[in-house]
Amino acid sequence: MATPLCDCAYCLVLVLVAFACLLHHGAAEKSQPPAGEAEILLKIKRAWGDPPALAAWNTASSATGSHCHWPYVGCDAAGRVTSLTLVSTNVTGRIPDAVGSLSRLIHLDISNNGITGAFPTMLYHCRSLRYLNLSTNYISGELPGDIGHGLGANLSTLDFSTNEFNGTIPTSMSRLRNLKYLDLVDNNVTGNIPTELGDLTSLETLWLANNPFDAGELPTSFKNLNNLVSLWADGCNLVGDFPSYMVKMPKSLEFLYLSNNSLTGTIPPDIWGLRKLQVLFIYKNNLTGNVVVDGFAAMNLTMIDVSENRLTGVIPEIFGHLENLTLLSLFSNNLSGEIPESIGRLPSLKILRLSNNKLTGMLPLELGKHSLGLSDVQANDNELTGGIPEGLCAGGQLLRLIASSNHLNGTIPLGLANCATLQKLNLRGNKLSGEMP
Ligand SMILES: *[C@@H]1O[C@H](CO)[C@@H](O)[C@H](O)[C@H]1NC(C)=O
Ligand SMILES: *[C@@H]1O[C@H](CO)[C@@H](O)[C@H](O)[C@H]1NC(C)=O
Ligand SMILES: *[C@@H]1O[C@H](CO)[C@@H](O)[C@H](O)[C@H]1NC(C)=O
Ligand SMILES: *[C@@H]1O[C@H](CO)[C@@H](O)[C@H](O)[C@H]1NC(C)=O
Ligand SMILES: *[C@@H]1O[C@H](CO)[C@@H](O)[C@H](O)[C@H]1NC(C)=O
Ligand SMILES: *[C@@H]1O[C@H](CO)[C@@H](O)[C@H](O)[C@H]1NC(C)=O
Ligand SMILES: *[C@@H]1O[C@H](CO)[C@@H](O)[C@H](O)[C@H]1NC(C)=O
Ligand SMILES: *[C@@H]1O[C@H](CO)[C@@H](O)[C@H](O)[C@H]1NC(C)=O
Ligand SMILES: *[C@@H]1O[C@H](CO)[C@@H](O)[C@H](O)[C@H]1NC(C)=O
Ligand SMILES: *[C@@H]1O[C@H](CO)[C@@H](O)[C@H](O)[C@H]1NC(C)=O
Ligand SMILES: *[C@@H]1O[C@H](CO)[C@@H](O)[C@H](O)[C@H]1NC(C)=O
Repeated sequence: MATPLCDCAYCLVLVLVAFACLLHHGAAEKSQPPAGEAEILLKIKRAWGDPPALAAWNTASSATGSHCHWPYVGCDAAGRVTSLTLVSTNVTGRIPDAVGSLSRLIHLDISNNGITGAFPTMLYHCRSLRYLNLSTNYISGELPGDIGHGLGANLSTLDFSTNEFNGTIPTSMSRLRNLKYLDLVDNNVTGNIPTELGDLTSLETLWLANNPFDAGELPTSFKNLNNLVSLWADGCNLVGDFPSYMVKMPKSLEFLYLSNNSLTGTIPPDIWGLRKLQVLFIYKNNLTGNVVVDGFAAMNLTMIDVSENRLTGVIPEIFGHLENLTLLSLFSNNLSGEIPESIGRLPSLKILRLSNNKLTGMLPLELGKHSLGLSDVQANDNELTGGIPEGLCAGGQLLRLIASSNHLNGTIPLGLANCATLQKLNLRGNKLSGEMP
């Protein structure tokens, strides 16, 4: 006869449990205790095979909200995970699906690890994502065609560099209108550079270098990238003329890297009118013609490298008036005429490479006296005459002087003979005389 009572008691317990559950759930809805978030993190940890770097992620420490104090984790005021910054933590394997359950995630950086697998489309669930850095891993396969629809529209930084992505750049990328930073450097991406990328008018940094794209030109739509500060498209199999619309980006462009392509034609004279330009790297192309300077405004240039082209004519005198110029590299062209004396007075010059041209006249007499950081001078295989400048090592920084195969005469100056920093000196094939001091 005890059975019904028992049953009843059992019922009561069930009801109580259910009620407690309801209460608890109601509370959860209200103050959002982040127990679920800790669970998700632990799932991620397990999926990655409990890596040592995540040892401190454990249930013993998972009192309410304490996961927000776990290493590499950041939360909002409600205890929801907003950032995961797992840079160089030795995690390997695929990105766990559970990452997609961190629905308030804003910042995800898992760069420089051993991550494999395909692009993690579960990140499409993280609608608030602004920063995604997958750089320097082994993520492979094609970028999904719907990536621009899938990822949240607030995304402003995408760094996919140094992975094994292949296939083409999805045109849907152009949907990510808030993108300021896009980096696909060092992957295996092929096809054309999509003209749609010109729609990403918020872009400040566009880095595409070192991908085996089909031979082609940079899309002319790039002229719409009014906020572009840095364009890096070395080794992108670019052909055709130097993209002349670049000269119409005077408000923003500071860094232009187009080296190691097959660009032909002349360097547009207006390029020197880009007021903010700091770095111009266009070495290793097939550029021809004279280096014509028209309306020079790029007074803040710090590095100019136009080496390994087929340029002719003289070195523009204005290059000798750039107070911040540290690198001037002009080697392996067909430049002629004399080296402007002003080059010898550049206050910031560190590296001067003039080898393999048809330069005549003398090395600037004052070279080194005003450039106290001068460390590398290469002028071999020209038709230079006269003596070796006295002050090359005046700043005590000179590591290398190569001036072989010219017609230099006179003696080796004392300042050079006493240069303690000098590691490499080659003056062969000249008409030098006197004793080695
Ligand atoms: C990753 O591995 C390296 C080399 O074994 C080690 O020095 C480093 O501390 C590890 N990093 C983390 C976050 O565990
Ligand atoms: C992405 O991570 C790499 C390696 O940690 C870092 O060098 C790079 O600056 C990061 N990219 C961005 C856009 O912050
Ligand atoms: C996107 O950014 C805006 C402006 O900062 C913000 O109001 C909005 O909540 C963000 N959207 C998401 C899904 O986080
Ligand atoms: C890039 O693709 C080529 C040809 O498909 C392949 O041989 C090479 O291994 C790939 N490289 C990487 C880093 O994935
Ligand atoms: C991309 O690489 C994967 C292997 O990671 C390969 O199966 C696929 O065929 C490649 N796709 C293209 C377009 O090269
Ligand atoms: C130039 O680009 C090619 C691919 O187009 C690459 O194989 C090579 O390593 C690059 N060379 C330099 C010096 O960057
Ligand atoms: C430059 O042009 C020459 C002759 O047309 C060609 O043989 C060479 O491969 C080209 N070099 C580059 C880097 O495009
Ligand atoms: C010149 O370049 C330096 C960095 O090299 C930068 O800090 C500075 O703001 C620039 N000055 C001007 C006038 O653009
Ligand atoms: C050279 O660089 C300094 C320091 O960054 C900067 O203040 C100065 O304006 C620059 N010179 C020019 C001509 O832009
Ligand atoms: C320089 O011009 C000569 C002919 O004047 C030509 O034979 C040589 O190939 C050119 N060198 C370069 C690097 O273009
Ligand atoms: C070096 O050669 C120039 C002519 O090229 C000549 O005027 C000068 O006297 C020579 N100097 C010495 C020290 O031989």
